[in-house]
Amino acid sequence: MAKYFIQGGNRLAGDLSIHGAKNSVLPILAASLLCKESIIHNCPSLSDVRAACNILGYLGCEAHQEGDTVVIRSESLSCCDIPDDLMREMRSSVVFLGAIISKCGKAKVSLPGGCELGPRPIDMHLSSLEKLGVHISEDHGYLDCWVPEELRGAVISLPFPSVGATENIMLAAVMAHGDTIIHNPAREPEIEDLASFLNSAGGKIYFMENGSISITGVGELHSTEFSLIPDRIAAATYLCCSAITGGEILLRDVVPAHLTAVFPVLEEMGCTIRSDNDTIYLRAPGELRPVKMVRTMPYPGFPTDAQAPIMALSCIANGTSVFVENIFESRYKQSAELARMGARIKVEGRVAVVEGVRKLYGASMVCTDLRGGAALCCAALAADGVSEITKISHIQRGYQDFDKNLVRMGAIIEKRDVEA
Ligand code: UD1
Repeated sequence: MAKYFIQGGNRLAGDLSIHGAKNSVLPILAASLLCKESIIHNCPSLSDVRAACNILGYLGCEAHQEGDTVVIRSESLSCCDIPDDLMREMRSSVVFLGAIISKCGKAKVSLPGGCELGPRPIDMHLSSLEKLGVHISEDHGYLDCWVPEELRGAVISLPFPSVGATENIMLAAVMAHGDTIIHNPAREPEIEDLASFLNSAGGKIYFMENGSISITGVGELHSTEFSLIPDRIAAATYLCCSAITGGEILLRDVVPAHLTAVFPVLEEMGCTIRSDNDTIYLRAPGELRPVKMVRTMPYPGFPTDAQAPIMALSCIANGTSVFVENIFESRYKQSAELARMGARIKVEGRVAVVEGVRKLYGASMVCTDLRGGAALCCAALAADGVSEITKISHIQRGYQDFDKNLVRMGAIIEKRDVEA
C-alpha cells in the first residue's frame, strides 16, 4: 500500500502538459469493441484504463498500451459477459453494457453497487436500452440482457442528462436499425469525444441545434485511429494545487473552452487567468478570497468533479464560501478529512459551508474517492507541517504521475510503500 507524505508550504510554479481525459478513454475503450482495430493516442496511464483493458482482454480482444497509445483488436471477441470481480474494479464499466449488446446481441454483467459518491442507480441506462429493443432481467446480482429481434432506433428522452446513460445509448444505437434521437442528453466534452471516435470509424452521430443527439444506425464500424481530448478535470485540479500555494502555472495541451465554468470561480477567488488555443496560465493572489456560491451542474455548468479541489482552496480563503452539490448525493466525503487539518466545513445535505481559516496544519488523512483524494493533497500543499495521505490508489485511478507532476513544480511529496 502506498502513501503520500506531503510537506506543505512550498509555492508551486512551472508548466505542465495535461494528459488525455479519463472520462473519454473509458467509453472509447468500450466503443473499440465495435471496431476491428482501434489505435487510441493521448491515452493516460491510469489504473482505470488498465481495468478497462482487462475487461477487453477477458472478452477476447487484444489490448496493449505502449506509452500513450493503446491498440485494441476486437475481431477475436469471444464472450459477452463480464464477471463481478472485473466489474467491481471500475464503477464506470457499466458503459461496456451498450457496446457488448451492440456487438453480440446479448450481455451479462454484474449489477454495479453503490460507490463512494453514494448510490449510483442505472435505471436510465436500462430503460433506454429497453427502448432500443433490449430485454433485461435481473438474476442474483447479474443483469441478463438479450435482443430478441434486432436493436432498433428509438426516441429517448432522458429525465436527467446522465453521462453514462447517454454513452450507453450511443453505443447501442450506433449499430441499431434506423434512427435514434436522444433528448436531454449529457453534453460533456467527453460525450462529443465518444461521438467523434464512433464517427471516425463510420458512425453517424450528430449534435442537433436544440441540444438533442441524432444517431443513424450503421450496422458496422471499421478500424480507426483517434486522439483523445485533454483531461479538463486534471487541468482544474492542477490549477487549484498551484493556486492554493500562491503559485503560478502554465498548463499546456488543454482545451480552455472546456473549463469556462471553472475560470470565473478561480477569478472570484482572486486568481488571474489567461488562456489561448491550448494553454491556460494562472497566477494566484497573495490571499485567496471566498467564492459566494459554487453550484455543480451538468456541462456546461460547474463540474461536480472540480468541486472538491475548489473546496480545498476555499478552506484557506479570507471568508465564507458556499457549495451546492446537485449531481451526486454524497460528494462531500473529503470534508471530514479536511477538518483534520483544521478546515471549518459544515455539511447539510447538498450544501456545504466553508469558513476559511488562516492556516491548515499537516494531518493524517485517508482518500475518500478520486477527486476528494486529490483535494486532500491540494490542501496539504498549503498546510503547515507534514500530511500523511493513505488510500492513494483512488488518485491513481484518474491522475497520471500526480506526485511527480507536483514535485516538478516545487512541491515536497514523497510516495512510500508501507505495510497495509
Ligand atoms: C460521469 C463521470 C463522473 C462525473 C459524472 C457527472 C465517467 C467515467 N464518470 O459519471 O466523473 O462525476 O459523469 O459529470 O465519465 N443517475 C441515475 N440513474 C441513472 C444514471 C445516473 O439516477 O441511470 C444519477 C447518478 O446517481 C448521479 C447523476 O445521475 O446522481 C449523474 O450521473 P451520471 O451523469 O450518469 O454520471 P456517471 O456517468 O456515473
